[in-house]
Amino acid sequence: MTGPRIRPRRLRATPAWRRLQRETRLDASQLVLPMFVAEGAPEARPISSMPGVLQHSTETFRAALHRAAEAGVGGIMLFGIPEHKDAVGTGATDPEGILNVATRIAVAEIGDSLVVQTDLCLDEFTDHGHCGVLDAHGAVDNDATLERYRDMALAQAAAGSHLLGLSGMMDGQVDAIRSSLDAVGRGDVALLAYSAKYASAFYGPFREAVQSSLQGDRRTYQLDAGNRREGAREVALDVAEGADVVMVKPAMTSLDVLADAAAVSPVPVWAYQVSGEYAMIEAAAARGWIDRERAIDESLTAIVRAGADAVLTYWAVEAAERWKDA
Ligand code: PBG
Repeated sequence: MTGPRIRPRRLRATPAWRRLQRETRLDASQLVLPMFVAEGAPEARPISSMPGVLQHSTETFRAALHRAAEAGVGGIMLFGIPEHKDAVGTGATDPEGILNVATRIAVAEIGDSLVVQTDLCLDEFTDHGHCGVLDAHGAVDNDATLERYRDMALAQAAAGSHLLGLSGMMDGQVDAIRSSLDAVGRGDVALLAYSAKYASAFYGPFREAVQSSLQGDRRTYQLDAGNRREGAREVALDVAEGADVVMVKPAMTSLDVLADAAAVSPVPVWAYQVSGEYAMIEAAAARGWIDRERAIDESLTAIVRAGADAVLTYWAVEAAERWKDA
């Protein structure tokens, strides 16, 4: 009898085979849960475009922290929603600002078991909604913003953050923040650089999540979706400036950039499965159009397969709990 001699299907024939020869294995420890904490909120508020995700009150935040630790995720990434905003984002550097308060709570509650991470960016705290401060013409002023970031880094380090998430896409931000931390003896605080962060429609639901006041867009600082080489350049620059971890974002629309980074980066490469990626799967699943859990796991598998060492995902706790039971 003839027929193909080489038959890749042999290794897919049974569940036992498929289990044995799977190339990509996911683990709860490589998931990071982004969390939103609202200042002065008497109770948690739902985010309509992100079903299942909450703006936490400090009460529900505590409970969610313990659930995340219990589930065995690798860490949490904190975002604060201040009651008051101004042009320079004063709440970001105020030790009593919501993000710094939330950080102290997280460090005290679960800081021994999870890596506590904080968003280092001004957009939640500015009344114009940009990631930096503006110059006289209304443009985002790179170098003046770096001065704000230095102060924000010191405030977050003082609050106990283990890993600062530099998401503002200002030139030189990793170097500026590293120098400021080192100058005050905080060489222990690590930096996660959102290196290849694209100006993306998939951040849409996040804007609701943090009640963003942004008018316009972030195209003068975030990357154009068409640019792969430029993503690689930003990764290389951040590594040279001293980033401890680099990140690519969004995840599913940037798998090529992620794979490029994973192939060359000497530091860990993470990916952020952003709000719009979450919302799309939730919305389609709610209509019965896709199998929700399979879609979640497939999306996370693809991101890790492309080269992510860890993934920020709003499904972190759910997935971790489900995999444990499986
Ligand atoms: C900036 C920041 C954003 C996200 C994370 N950090 C918003 C933006 O750049 O517009 C988006 C995350 C998501 O969409 O899930 N602080």
